[in-house]
Amino acid sequence: MCGIVGYIGENDSKEILLKGLEKLEYRGYDSAGIAVRNGSGITVFKEKGRIADLRAIVEEDVFGTTGIGHTRWATHGKPNRVNAHPHQNGNERFTLVHNGVIENYHHIQRDYLADVPMESDTDTEIIVQLIGKFVEEGMTTEEAFSKTLGLLKGSYAIALLDAEEEETIFVAKNKSPLLVGLGEGFNVVASDAMAMLQVTDKFLELMDKEIVIVRKEGVEILTLEGESINRQPFTAEIDMSDIEKGTYPHYMLKEIDEQPAVMRKIIQAYQDENDKLVIQPEILDALQEADRIHIIAAGTSYHAGLIGKEYLEKMAGIPVEVHVSSEFGYNMPLLSEKPLFIFISQSGETADSRQVLVKIKELGHTSLTITNVAGSTLSREADHTLLLYAGPEIAVASTKAYTAQLAVLSILAAVTAEARGIDLGFNLVQELGIVANAIQAQIDAKEEMEQIASEFLSTTRNCFFIGRVMDYFVGLEGALKLKEISYIQAEGFAGGELKHGTIALIEEGTPVIALATQEAVNLNIRGNVKEVAARGANPCIISMEGLQEAGDSLVLPKVHELLSPLVAVVPLQLISYFAALHRDCDVDKPRNLAKSVTVE
Ligand code: F6R
Repeated sequence: MCGIVGYIGENDSKEILLKGLEKLEYRGYDSAGIAVRNGSGITVFKEKGRIADLRAIVEEDVFGTTGIGHTRWATHGKPNRVNAHPHQNGNERFTLVHNGVIENYHHIQRDYLADVPMESDTDTEIIVQLIGKFVEEGMTTEEAFSKTLGLLKGSYAIALLDAEEEETIFVAKNKSPLLVGLGEGFNVVASDAMAMLQVTDKFLELMDKEIVIVRKEGVEILTLEGESINRQPFTAEIDMSDIEKGTYPHYMLKEIDEQPAVMRKIIQAYQDENDKLVIQPEILDALQEADRIHIIAAGTSYHAGLIGKEYLEKMAGIPVEVHVSSEFGYNMPLLSEKPLFIFISQSGETADSRQVLVKIKELGHTSLTITNVAGSTLSREADHTLLLYAGPEIAVASTKAYTAQLAVLSILAAVTAEARGIDLGFNLVQELGIVANAIQAQIDAKEEMEQIASEFLSTTRNCFFIGRVMDYFVGLEGALKLKEISYIQAEGFAGGELKHGTIALIEEGTPVIALATQEAVNLNIRGNVKEVAARGANPCIISMEGLQEAGDSLVLPKVHELLSPLVAVVPLQLISYFAALHRDCDVDKPRNLAKSVTVE
């Protein structure tokens, strides 16, 4: 949520900042701004809307070799120009951008800034006003910065400019991600390495509650007490082509199309030299020792967790509970003697999940993060990590990360099963290969999905997804995809549950997308379809080879039943994509959302 960039060097900073913000737009896109150190002082440009709107008001002739920038996802205060970052203190000496939420900003305002007029409705402004106030009282900027950080409660990634200290960007973070990028004669700051790959691939990881002084000739990392810290940089292994759209009209379509390749990459990544599936022995030990697994996740990752439970229970025989992370930390169930916590998160930054990780670590429990982002907060802070190898996912709606999560969870379950002496009765590598081909077949049949979207969803205001057993969980994901990008009200239901109330919403023509890929319940789900059809619904049945009946809208190629979610979700992703296109929605950047939800 919110993206930060900074540049200090010899070139004009404007274009580097704007390009960086464009790469961070996935983190928030309701308003944006940059501040550029410009000879005599600091010039701020900010605007409501996208980076393109900001770009349109940035004056070409403002030149400055130091600058900071921000793209916002509003938490405190409406998304408008005044609340957009950067913010400045009263005399405009200090200029600051912030990502995160300051939980005690009211208290700080009351206790320290009662006499200081505020311009915006944001929690951020108190930070810059407080630094300004401490400096007026006689502190140096570094002292004021450090004292202010010590007073803040909540999450932050901050970059600060001082009009009187030309050659410095002051930087700090707590819980929110922030990196410093290193160059020859320049250095940069970014919420995500992607933003600054345009100028460097060498980055320094920052830890919570450090003060970082960024100058063009070097970077100094200090503790809050002023002691110097030595840290080695790392090289970001991201290919520029992974983060460009290429010839695709939308990232979402590109990422849907990448799924077969991602499947193959995951199989390779988790195979040893004898083509045997392997995971790190310490992770296997953690699973072996656990008497119960708690999967913690949000949104699409939660939906992947529901299927992960099926894999771990049905393949490896370990009991699993799946929890929405925003609830779990505040309403913890009774825990068993030796639980293992598995955090599933594409970004590895989701604050709701992190608050659980912090709590269960305090309780002394073991944790494993399954994430797409190496070095992300949830990965760094958990005991173990399994990577998804899906490549950067830029579209806000998660697609390839979801199927990658399912594939990695299936591998985790299969390897654990083997270690426990359980014979699965099938070869997972072979079956995942069949899945990759079946996904490709869906991708190659896009016109059919476009046809379904236009036949069932072009005018409707709502839509239901039904399924039983694992199809129910895939339906939940299908509904989330459709609602988040097309704004059609969509809900996923267990097929048998509709009749207990929700069936009252079925009207003449209501689209009901039913999944029928599970043999044991094929007759049941078809019975549920008849129930809604009898009340006027317009059913669209997606079945699997061997279970199909005349009149089904789509028949998926046969894959192992446990792995059918990996295939069944793909038409739902594509149908949602086309439904959103037909409605002229901004597919990659749906309203009110952000890719990385770093606030609770
Ligand atoms: C929906 C979507 C979200 C995320 C959720 C958790 O398409 O992407 O529901 O799944 O915000 O994010 P991660 O997986 O990064 O923890």
